[in-house]
Amino acid sequence: MKLGIIGAGKLGITLAQLALKAGYEVAVSGSGDTQKIALSVKVLTPGAIAMTTKDVAQWAEVIILAIPLGKFRQLPVESLKGKIVIDATNHWPEVDGPREEIIPETLSSSEAIQQFLPESRVVKAFSHMGYHELRDWARPAGSDERKALALASDSNQATTNVAAIVSDLGFEPVILGSLSHGRILEPGQQGFGLVTSATKLKELGN
Ligand SMILES: NC(=O)c1ccc[n+]([C@@H]2O[C@H](COP(=O)([O-])OP(=O)(O)OC[C@H]3O[C@@H](n4cnc5c(N)ncnc54)[C@H](OP(=O)(O)O)[C@@H]3O)[C@@H](O)[C@H]2O)c1
Repeated sequence: MKLGIIGAGKLGITLAQLALKAGYEVAVSGSGDTQKIALSVKVLTPGAIAMTTKDVAQWAEVIILAIPLGKFRQLPVESLKGKIVIDATNHWPEVDGPREEIIPETLSSSEAIQQFLPESRVVKAFSHMGYHELRDWARPAGSDERKALALASDSNQATTNVAAIVSDLGFEPVILGSLSHGRILEPGQQGFGLVTSATKLKELGN
């Protein structure tokens, strides 16, 4: 599995570490030239490749978005065509400004990204836990301590693929439903910040 991660910050690096541990091939990009992230990728995620965002999009089978939500219109739409795109972004007013200035009120943030990437299959995942919780709580399948991660997508096939990735990275996948259901995972909503069992997370989807 070739997993691309766009965004080499706290979340992107943590997910790269978990994916490398799971045996994935991993490429990571930041906002600019690869030289800018080369050292941190080498030191923090040995084995991962630093690339430009466009190259990550072309190289990977599945791409995780770990960038500020407000930057999604900078994504390379053409290069992401036909790919599964995991949206791990959240709206954060201090970083992104007012939500209504980047996302229409009627849409979940992942629906807005799906509209921007009409020929990609967007799955919301890895967004409701902090990066330190993802780092500290990853456990193999079967562990009593394993925590659940929620997924939402309009594509059943992409959901199945991403559920397998979530499991490989150390979490129990819980499918909430379509991308519109992903709204309950956004900051300020009841699913945001949950670090809990699959049973409890499933109650959220009901
Ligand atoms: N931190 C968490 O615990 C956490 C948990 C779940 C979800 N999230 C969400 O994940 C996203 C990233 O959060 P973070 O805490 O990792 O932020 P961060 O530490 O600030 O990292 C953001 C990364 O995105 C890069 N970036 C910015 N614009 C880009 C662009 N147009 N193309 C490619 N890369 C770009 C930045 O590169 P430069 O440094 O070069 O600008 C940086 O590497 C946010 O949407 C956040 O809400 C975060």
